[in-house]
Amino acid sequence: MKILMVCLGNICRSPLAHGLMQDAINKNGLDWIVDSAGTGDWHIGNPPDRRSVAVAKHYGIDISEQRAQHFTQELFDAYDYIFVMDKQNKEDVLRLATDDDQRSKVKLFLLDDIVPDPYFDDNMFEPVFHMVKERCEQLVVELKNNI
Ligand code: 4NP
Repeated sequence: MKILMVCLGNICRSPLAHGLMQDAINKNGLDWIVDSAGTGDWHIGNPPDRRSVAVAKHYGIDISEQRAQHFTQELFDAYDYIFVMDKQNKEDVLRLATDDDQRSKVKLFLLDDIVPDPYFDDNMFEPVFHMVKERCEQLVVELKNNI
């Protein structure tokens, strides 16, 4: 199973989703691949935002080695699922899809809600962390059981 987590900058939300999904994968003894990308290209090659690094570190997850990459069309075929953090991300990713197979891989990470962008609000990193952690734990079970 290959999973890609996508947000706008690939420095706040999707690095947390990447790190927390990797942790859930490890705890479930699975050999799945997870990575992350951003629909924007401003932060290519940068580590995650220090606030995401800090909240993850506080809960024992090290995301400091991650580096931002830009979501491009070629990534569709490299992954089974592309989980997007909000509706704008979904629109931006879907705009690049060239067929129904690619379109069908794109899902909102939180099913019927969005992960709010914490970039402009320091106080949002903690709730975003917990929101993402809870969903990653669910998601591993759902994907493992083909739900
Ligand atoms: P992210 O947050 O999409 O969760 O990584 C953002 C990071 C950077 C910017 C916007 C959102 N930015 O405009 O640079």
